[in-house]
Formats: sequence, structure tokens, C-alpha cells
Amino acid sequence: MDTLLIKGGFPLKGEVTVGGSKNACLPIFAATLLTEEPCIIENVPNLTDVAYMGKILQHLGAEVSQINPNTWKIEAKNIIELAPYDLVRKMRASICLLGPLVGRLRHAEISLPGGCIIGQRPIDLHLKGLSKLGCTIVIKNGYIYVDAKNIKANNVFLGGRHGSTVTGTANLVMAAVLVPGITRIDFAACEPEIEDLCRMLISMGAIIEGIGTHSLKIQGVQNLHGCTHRVIGDRIEAGTFITAGLLGENNITIRGANPLHLSAFLHPFEEANITIDSNNDIHVQGNPQHLKPKEIITLPYPGFATDLQAQMTALMTVTPGISIITERIYPNRFMHVPELERMGAQISIEGSSAIISGTPKLYGAPVMASDLRASAALVLAGLIAEGETTIQRIYHLDRGYENIDQKLRNLGAQIERLSTDQVPLELAS
Ligand code: EPZ
Repeated sequence: MDTLLIKGGFPLKGEVTVGGSKNACLPIFAATLLTEEPCIIENVPNLTDVAYMGKILQHLGAEVSQINPNTWKIEAKNIIELAPYDLVRKMRASICLLGPLVGRLRHAEISLPGGCIIGQRPIDLHLKGLSKLGCTIVIKNGYIYVDAKNIKANNVFLGGRHGSTVTGTANLVMAAVLVPGITRIDFAACEPEIEDLCRMLISMGAIIEGIGTHSLKIQGVQNLHGCTHRVIGDRIEAGTFITAGLLGENNITIRGANPLHLSAFLHPFEEANITIDSNNDIHVQGNPQHLKPKEIITLPYPGFATDLQAQMTALMTVTPGISIITERIYPNRFMHVPELERMGAQISIEGSSAIISGTPKLYGAPVMASDLRASAALVLAGLIAEGETTIQRIYHLDRGYENIDQKLRNLGAQIERLSTDQVPLELAS
């Protein structure tokens, strides 16, 4: 298992381009199952989660190939409806295969997704929505069996205790685009990744209105044709690099994302020197001493993204004053906190809030990655900590960040990836 070794305190300078959005790409890959014709997907990030989704599509019978490292061709001429446990359990997002299998085959058998370290990840809203469309759903032996021979257009409400559901909205849209009649989805997720999926489906011949809002209207069509679609830039990767820029006396430019997708993230930093130019490039001149403590609440889009909560927590550990970050999406998403405390951070967890008392300095330490965004928070902390930080189990990081160590090295960070046989003896676990 690879380990990252980071020597903190080196200034970051230069430009970085973020890759395509992981959370757009995964449902977009799944949507290629809705047509027999080839789909070309561009700006695909080189991530283990994406490669894994490609493997599952191949298992389902699609022809999957890479035209270049960031362009994939997927042709789902003949597919089967079974997504087995040993594939699905390794990546929760494979649940978004449910919608296209139902839409294309009117039948699906997919393993219930396993647990997840960031918290409860139920799919009750996905299943309630499909039932509303007339699907018969049976859960048995850890599998979801969906019989959709009587599927019909209908009005669906997707609101839950924590707002809407992103992959649930993707599933319902993909199930409905080939169902005759008008399906309305109220309280749909309006994340940019859902917008991107809908734009791809429209380029395939789907009829969808209300894109970017909480109310989608879908007019079913007979079939969909192939397409060429470019995935939007990854707003979470961009937010991660903006945080890196704010963490020290840095001067970096982040390219490839749409700043409008980051309004809730950028808004609290009125005191920081963050500018956006006419090319939508984001320029960050960091100086942590100028930062002010924050009160942040994570919410569904367009609110503050839960996927940037851990990164923000890392920044607040060295921001003077008391900051409070409250998780409204995954109330227990604080796996990064004990690891940050090992580096000298002063954080207390009260319910679903982290109360952070800014400290002048963090200290390098051996820490353990636990999930994708918590790992990113540890990298950020390592960049400014005094001394060396080693981060183990960085396979979590590779799920959602393409070559983040290389990108940070190009900006001047002292960071290297140690393979297992290079890991110092006392760290080898
Ligand atoms: C997507 O997960 C993202 N993943 C997550 O990113 C992201 O954190 C999350 O949306 C919230 O923005 C992908 O897009 C692949 P949800 P998803 O269904 O769709 C509750 C990352 O780090 N809920 O919108 O699984 C749920 O418990 C990952 O890139 C129900 O109650 O999230 C949560 O509290 C992590 N019932 C909230 O809604 C349901 O049926 C939002 O979940 C579904 C969800």
C-alpha cells in the first residue's frame, strides 16, 4: 500500500488544472447503458473509481475502451441486468447502474451497496422513487430485484431527511428517459454533476426540462442514440486546491473548473485574496494570518458541499479564532479529526459540529487516510505542518484525485509517494 511523505512549509506557486468531475463521470458512464450506440466520453479523470466503473460496465456486457488516458468509448450493444456483490461492494456509486438497467432492460438485479465510513448511506429514496414509477422491488439475500415491466410515467418526490439524493436523482432520471409519458421529479438534486448528466442524456435524444433546478420534467422517448460528451471540471478537486492556496503564503492559479459551482465555498472568504479572471481561472494568494474564523454548514447544492468539509476543517485548524463546521449531510463525517489532532489541531466534536480552535502551527506526524476527502484534508495539513507527515492507505485518495502528489509537486510542495517497500519500517503496517 502506497504512502505519501510530505515535508511541510514549502510555498506553492504556479498553475494547476483540475480533471473531469468524478461525481459527474460515474453516472455518465452508467448512462451509456441506455443506448446500443457508442458513446465517447471526454475529460474523464484517471481515477480508480472511474476505472472500476468501466470494469463493471464490461462485466454487464458493454464494450469499453480508452481512446486516450482521458477519453473513453463505451458501446453497450447487449447487456445483462446483474451487477454482482463482489463488484458493487467495492464502490457505492455503482448503485447508479440501477436506473439505466431499469430504463433499458425493464429489469435489474443489483447488490445492495455495502456500508461506508462517512456514515449511513441508505437508498430508500431511490427505491421509493422507482416504486412510484410502478416498479416491483424485492430485496433478498443482499440483492435488489427490480421488475419494471409495468413501469409508467408518474410524479416522484425525492426529498429526504438530509435534502435530496444525488445518485437517487441520477437513477430516477435514467429510469424515466425511456418511459412513455411525462415524469416529474420534485426535490431533485440540482448538483452540477446532475446537470452534466442531463445535458449528456439530452445530447442522446432525451427530453428533459428544468435542468439545474429541483424540479425535473422528463418526456419519455422510444430510444436514445450515442453521443460525444465532455465531463465538467471537478469542483471538489478545485476547492481542494483553493484550500491548499489559502493555507500558506502561496500564489496559485486553478484551471478547469467552473467558479460558479463553487459560490458557497468561495463566499465565506471575502477577506482572502481570491480572484476569478475572464477565463474562469481562479487565482489564490494565500496568507493564513489574514483568514477569519468561519461558521460553515454543509447543505445540498447550491449550499456548501459536504465533500469540501474535511478540507475546510484542515484550513480552520490554523485560522486564528474559533470556527464551527456543521455537517447536515453526513453528521458523522469527521474521520479526519482524530488524525488532524495527532498533528496538533484543537478540535472538539459536538453532535454534528466540529468546533475548531485555530492554532499557530501544526506538526508533522504519521497519520492514516480513512476515506477520500478525509485523506485530502490530511494532505493539506501536511503541506503546512512543521516537519514530516506520512499518510498511509492513500488508495483512498487515488479514488478521487488524479496524481494529486504530482500536481502539488509541480506547485513546489515537497511531497513524494513511497511504495510499500520504501515505507520506513516503523510505519509498515
Ligand atoms: C453523492 O453521493 C456523492 N457521490 C458524494 O460524494 C456526496 O458526498 C453526496 O452525493 C452528497 O453531495 C457521488 O456522486 C458518486 P446522496 P450520494 O444520496 O448520491 C441521504 C465523494 O467524496 N439519503 O445525495 O450517495 C444520505 O444518507 C462522495 O466524492 C437518504 O436518506 O449522496 C445523505 O445523508 C462521498 N436516502 C444525503 O441523503 C437515500 O435514498 C445525501 O445523500 C439516499 C440518500
